[in-house]
Amino acid sequence: MSHAEDHEGTRRDFLYYATAGAGAVVAGAAIWPLANQMNPSADVRAMSTIRVDVSGVSEGSQLTVQFLGKPVFIRRRTESEIEAARSVDLGDLVDPIARNANIQGDVPATDENRALDETGEWLVQMGVCTHLGCVPIGNAGDFQAEDGVGGWFCPCHGSHYDTAGRIRRGPAPENLPIPAAEFVDESTILLG
Ligand code: FES
Repeated sequence: MSHAEDHEGTRRDFLYYATAGAGAVVAGAAIWPLANQMNPSADVRAMSTIRVDVSGVSEGSQLTVQFLGKPVFIRRRTESEIEAARSVDLGDLVDPIARNANIQGDVPATDENRALDETGEWLVQMGVCTHLGCVPIGNAGDFQAEDGVGGWFCPCHGSHYDTAGRIRRGPAPENLPIPAAEFVDESTILLG
């Protein structure tokens, strides 16, 4: 089903006004009571798409929003993060599959197959460790870019994800999953 069709019927989109950085988590959480007030019925819980304003996200930072009860990381990557992700030998990957809901089938876990846009500037992925579901920490772990940005580390049992969100070390078996996402205008990402 296309997103145009998605907009018909009973589905509703909610606009998240969020800012980059640490405050974003609070902004994401704070919207829930409002959404519930506006529409207290069960379809709030079942809503299947949200729109995220990413105009405030600066290079090298990440916005975390709640989507269907789970955190989603929306990261605007630096050149060094993109370069680090694209220079990886695919033979070194623990999980060779892209895990991208926007691409049908099991395609290779290249950075190009995981990034949201062609330049690789934007990476959108679930912020849920594929081991036991903790929320990984950004700008951390053993697989950051050379200048020390990017990457994720899950402190629960020590899983390291690279600058493309691919699992590289530790007990997690799979790359961080990429949800259905697309730009609907130059500063808005539609999730779901
Ligand atoms: S939940 Fe992340 S390493 Fe165990």
